[in-house]
Amino acid sequence: MGNKIDLDFLLHGKTNRKKTLGLFDLSILGIGAIIGTGILVLTGIVAATDAGPGVIYSFLIAALASGLIGLCYSELTTSIPNSGSAYVYAWVTIGQNVAFFAGWTLLGVYITTTATVANGWTGYVQSFLHEFGIILPNALIKSPFNGGVINLPAVIMIMLVTLILTRGTSESKVLNNILVIVKLSIILLFVVVSFADIQTKNWSPFLPYGTTGVFAGASTVFFAFLGFDALATSAEEVKDVQKTLPRAIIISLIVSTLLYIVVSLVMTGVMHYKNLNVPEAMSFVLLENGHGISAQIVSAGAILGIIAVVLAFIYASSNITMSMSRGGFLPSNLSKLNSNTGSPNKALWLIGTIASVCAGLLDIKNLAIFSNVGSLCVFFLISLMVLLLRRQYPKLNRPFKVPFGRIIPVLSMLVCAFLLVNLPLNAWLNYLGWLLIGAVMYLFYSRKNIKIELKDTTTIKGGDASDNDNDDVLLD
Ligand code: ALA
Repeated sequence: MGNKIDLDFLLHGKTNRKKTLGLFDLSILGIGAIIGTGILVLTGIVAATDAGPGVIYSFLIAALASGLIGLCYSELTTSIPNSGSAYVYAWVTIGQNVAFFAGWTLLGVYITTTATVANGWTGYVQSFLHEFGIILPNALIKSPFNGGVINLPAVIMIMLVTLILTRGTSESKVLNNILVIVKLSIILLFVVVSFADIQTKNWSPFLPYGTTGVFAGASTVFFAFLGFDALATSAEEVKDVQKTLPRAIIISLIVSTLLYIVVSLVMTGVMHYKNLNVPEAMSFVLLENGHGISAQIVSAGAILGIIAVVLAFIYASSNITMSMSRGGFLPSNLSKLNSNTGSPNKALWLIGTIASVCAGLLDIKNLAIFSNVGSLCVFFLISLMVLLLRRQYPKLNRPFKVPFGRIIPVLSMLVCAFLLVNLPLNAWLNYLGWLLIGAVMYLFYSRKNIKIELKDTTTIKGGDASDNDNDDVLLD
């Protein structure tokens, strides 16, 4: 074990990071992270292949799951406001081994989500340029797994977003707010312009593939809600974090769910679900109904709006990296903050580079299902940890507590398990590969460099150490 550092530093992340994020900024950050490829790319495909117009039920199930998990996240985040998110909660409740793998999984999830979203983004760039007669060569817009050489636009976009993030949160916040407004505007434009074209006969049959299709659709569109969890990683930069964070998680989930439901209803009402199997369904539907200009505006807005998702996920990954580095699990220079901007620039460049390589060279489908399986495993753990933390630290100050006792965390675990079993074997194998790389890292580096000995537990108990029967859990 190396030098010990203050437990309070781990738990509350007392760093010199500026508290710049209020409720509005944080809700916008959440909406920015959540709404993206899921609604813009997956809605049409899931309606056509899985659920028909009943895709709205798939979205509702995924929203319900995300809401349950979001409540659990809120309790943990407000009790332990640290940017390390699941990694820190696991350390406190279970121990350092699980903490490492929770953090490692989150890192993998955020990197692959960034890469998936950037891949989807290239599709919109391609179709937008196509309207102007510009055709990009396949070799430069597709990965080797999809018949090309490299997905260059995705690589360039990720690196540019990383550059912006290195300039500090305040600057990135302004850009993010603008991008979210653009994204919301194009969704509203789609709804308003298409509303008059709805024909109720398109909603019949409403459930062409039955409830099985609706459930399969829910496992896929769950991707559309990923991002609410990323808010937890911004805890150290949030003003009045105990109140602000749970509210922002709930607000961003409600706004996204409402938009997803309205978009799904309009999309399946305007065009028969069988014709919606295209990646750029929103602009496609507009184009097919003679709204060419609106279609181009929607494509342009999607190109800008999806950037906000990439921004939020690179930011979240860098926060996890920084937090794991503080604990000694990853090299210490990854937690150094730039003296001018206060940003963890080394962590940002590392994450940006890995995400670029994944986006440029890997297969989009495998990246996306990796995100889903990894996230659901972490979310299962999050729900479990709410129960563990309550049992281990009953006196801990909990500014936000999930209502109805154990019911919601248990339901949340069940929903995660249900969605996990609906995912293909491939997803599990990829995840196992990532865990094996993590195990090598843990055995040969992290274990020897861990800096923190959790021996002073009074900080999180909010009371007398002798009241607790489970101190051993925290002792290394
Ligand atoms: N929820 C994010 C999206 O749909 C990951 O793009």
